[in-house]
Amino acid sequence: MRSLLFVTSFVVATIGTQGGCGKNDQPPPPTSGSPRATPESGPSTRPAGGGAEGAPSEVAAAMFRDVCATCHGGSGKGDGPAAESLSPRPRNYTDPAWQASVTDDDIKKIILEGGQAVGKSAMMPAQAQLKAKPEVLAELVKIIRAYGPKK
Ligand code: HEC
Repeated sequence: MRSLLFVTSFVVATIGTQGGCGKNDQPPPPTSGSPRATPESGPSTRPAGGGAEGAPSEVAAAMFRDVCATCHGGSGKGDGPAAESLSPRPRNYTDPAWQASVTDDDIKKIILEGGQAVGKSAMMPAQAQLKAKPEVLAELVKIIRAYGPKK
């Protein structure tokens, strides 16, 4: 990203000083894309959607927030922003009857293979890439279980 900004500001500065278009009555505006600018200060460099970086619990938490919560909601009640248009609605993780009816392996299977593979809604997407990240998968199960009744 920084190198792109660098190239962009270089091109702008070059065109501006050469004045090839004959309307060179203004100096090139100072750009915020200066190569000397300090990099944007952000909370982290973690790639969106759960990259390979970070502890499994962090990757899982980021993935839950960025992916799962869109449908299942930050509250776990199946009331995320995308939930309204879905039928059946995303699972409400806080439902004690549902929590009691599934094993951790059931939860892992639907996460890896998606709803359709287990006879449920195809709107529940598969995360097949987590087959290579069993630790992250296990952390997702923990997050889902944490919405259930306290033991
Ligand atoms: C596009 C919306 C959507 C996203 C994103 C989504 N889900 Fe779902 N999920 C659903 C729907 C809809 C169901 C209900 C399926 C049914 O009951 O037929 C469901 C059901 C489930 C279930 C319950 C399965 C059961 O036994 O009833 C689990 C567990 C689950 N999702 C986990 C996840 C996890 C973890 C993520 C993120 C990696 C995720 N979901 C992302 C829509 C979504």
